[in-house]
Order: sequence, then structure tokens, then C-alpha cells
Amino acid sequence: MTYTCEFFQKSADFLRAQVDFTPETGIVLGSCLGPFAQAIEHPVVVDYAGIPNFLLSTVASHAGKLIFGTVAGKRVVCMSGRFHSYEGYRFEELVIPIRVLKLLGVKSVILTNAAGAVNPDYRPGDVMIIADHVKLNGESPLRGPNVEDFGPRFFDVSQMYAPELRRLALDCAKNSPLRVHEGTYMFFPGPQFETPAEIRAARFLAADAVGMSTVTEALTAAHCGMPLLALSVITNMAAGVLDQPLRAEEVDVTAEKIAGPFSDYMKAIVAAI
Ligand code: HPA
Repeated sequence: MTYTCEFFQKSADFLRAQVDFTPETGIVLGSCLGPFAQAIEHPVVVDYAGIPNFLLSTVASHAGKLIFGTVAGKRVVCMSGRFHSYEGYRFEELVIPIRVLKLLGVKSVILTNAAGAVNPDYRPGDVMIIADHVKLNGESPLRGPNVEDFGPRFFDVSQMYAPELRRLALDCAKNSPLRVHEGTYMFFPGPQFETPAEIRAARFLAADAVGMSTVTEALTAAHCGMPLLALSVITNMAAGVLDQPLRAEEVDVTAEKIAGPFSDYMKAIVAAI
């Protein structure tokens, strides 16, 4: 499939007909972080299934809905449910949601995810503001013919996690009960969790946390020049950090536990942007 600007425009045109305002901030909610969606006021909910040229969420903990509304008086659009390469999507397809948000007029993007801690000083329930990432696995979502309307073929990613948004998120952390760090996220394609040896390698490569999402969306946002903030909720210590097997339920249990303070933290950030 060769993408053109018109391909993404078709989804954006459909969505524009459903809402009568331009969202300023686009938010992507990660695994089990859906409860933030309840903080959206005057919600207009659109199922992914009805959006032309969009993708479908296949993960049980991802709702598969786009929610337009306001948070702290700011106009937002929130993806409750995201797409991952482990679902079978090609890396090139993973540009779709962020490009559609761009065409809708979204100015900045907040990405959230659940992640495993590589850094032994982190604890489940902490939050990590992503300062940089390592992605040695899988393709770039920007491979294939470049769509110049969005950005140039070759582009800088040395400050893609916007320093001013990271500062703002650190500031907001002062009024939150959450422990908030800044660190490096390393992408693994999943769906299996990593091996202990992969986690030792990740630590050697300066990663503080690992996960199976976010980086494709972050690169797409960077390509089209959208300021970006990305937050990892640490749901578990990564494989082999503790002397016990990693259970998928840990992710759900921790995400559920911190849903309240995490929602409040997100609201404070959206208000301050
Ligand atoms: N590894 C990869 N992805 C994850 C993890 C993990 O330990 N925890 C939550 N998402």
C-alpha cells in the first residue's frame, strides 16, 4: 500500500463532520490507562470501526474509541486504545492515527503507555517521562515513499520528546503523589515479554524502561513536527529484575491502582499546556 495525503484526509474529513471544534491536544491512552477517558467532559465518542481508512484495536484492554471533548477547559481528542505491530499491523500502517490527528488540527500530542522497569530504582506505580528512546527492533513507521505533506524524508529526532513539555510535566509532578522520573524507553516488538538477557542488554544500552508501543507514534509525530510528550506508567519490574516470572496481570493490577492519581496528573498537564 502506498499512502498519499488523501488517504489520511478521508479519515480526517469523516471525523470533522462528527465534531464542531478543533482539538488542540491529542492523547493516546496505553494499556489499562483507559480510565482517564472518564475525565473528558462533553464527550463525543467515535468507534474506530466506523472511521474510513482507520485501524481496529484487537487488544482486550484497549477500548477502540476516539473521544473528543474538553479536559480542564482544553479541547482534546483522545485515542482510547492504540495499535501495535504485535497485533499484525505493518510498521507503515502505524502512522495512520497520528497523521489523522495532525490533519484534524491537533497541535501537540501526549502518548501514554504501560512499561516494565529496567532501572532498579524504579518501582511499579512510578511514572517515567520519556526523554529519549532506543529502537533497534522492527522497521521505522516512516519507511516507504515519503509523504512530503507531512514532513521531509530525513529528519532530526534528537529533541523529539519536546524539552519544554518534559519540563512542564516535571513541574506538574510537584503537585502529584506519583513518583515521576525522566528516562529512556526501549521498544521491543512483543507480544512476548522480554527475556532476562534482553533486559540485561537493554540496561547496558541505557534503557530505564521497556515496552511494546509509543515509539512508532512518537516518530510519526516527530516527522510532522508535532511537539510530543510521552509518559510511561511503570506497571512491573522487567523480566529478570526480580527473581520471579513476569505475569501479564501485574500490568493490569498496577495500571488500575494508579488510574486515579495518573488521571489527575494528566489533567494537570493538559491544563498547563
Ligand atoms: N515489557 C514490555 N512491555 C510491557 C512491560 C514489560 O515488562 N510491562 C508493560 N508493558
